Amino acid sequence: MPWFDNNEMWEVFYDCMFDRDSFETANKQCQQIIDLVGSTVSSVLDLACGPGRHLLGFSRLGLKVTGVDLSGYLLNQAANLLEQESLEATLVHSDLLTYQPKQNFDLITNLFTSFGYYSDPSDNQQILNNAYQKLNDGGSLIIDTFGKEQAAHAIEPVHCTEYNNGDLRFERPLLIENMQVYSNEWILVRDKQAHRWEYQHFVYSAEELTMMLKQAGFKTVEIYGSLTRDDYDLAADRLVAVARK
Ligand SMILES: C[S@@+](CC[C@H](N)C(=O)[O-])C[C@H]1O[C@@H](n2cnc3c(N)ncnc32)[C@H](O)[C@@H]1O
Repeated sequence: MPWFDNNEMWEVFYDCMFDRDSFETANKQCQQIIDLVGSTVSSVLDLACGPGRHLLGFSRLGLKVTGVDLSGYLLNQAANLLEQESLEATLVHSDLLTYQPKQNFDLITNLFTSFGYYSDPSDNQQILNNAYQKLNDGGSLIIDTFGKEQAAHAIEPVHCTEYNNGDLRFERPLLIENMQVYSNEWILVRDKQAHRWEYQHFVYSAEELTMMLKQAGFKTVEIYGSLTRDDYDLAADRLVAVARK
């Protein structure tokens, strides 16, 4: 079983990853994404939507939203949160690779470092190929992740984060396999228990990601350091790719 197909771990780490502030941030990001796209958007597909942070935001903007994710636990969270606000979204429980939507979309998103998880590089390329196929003409794919340049520049060896609820998260990030793969170990100390999780995913440079997107067929690719068009340089928080069909 790959590391990401583990409901128990998503459940244990939920409060660290998806706290209240992160939902507020995601809500703001939805408008930033629409501004970044710069053309009319009425339908959105969020690939690896998790607990629906962006589905909620896009839905509040009146868009027709679909989210796909492998974790039943996270999709249940999304369903509950949408229901609490009487918002609508189509939720699909599927691996991204096998998901075959029947319709096309104006916008496809893949946010919060949810790309590069497959251990076979051709599967990661396939996600981009599929996204291209499922976009309407003139549609855009937005990827928000961190880049290889950022990982190499700012990787912080073993460190600890303290959360408001008292949880402590120790982590030990590494760049391995000739710096192609970001590998991390998380140890969450909650009450008197420790929970351990290891994960790895590919990290791409801005240039590598651009080449993959062009290979998928995208006409133009813009690279930014944030969803608000900051430059992708050593001060950048994120690697954001805007690929237009
Ligand atoms: C870091 S979380 C990001 C969730 C969401 N995009 C957000 O911003 O809150 C990564 C997500 O990718 C999902 N995921 C990982 N591998 C997947 C796969 N092969 N197919 C579908 N979803 C996957 C996980 O279940 C998880 O929800």
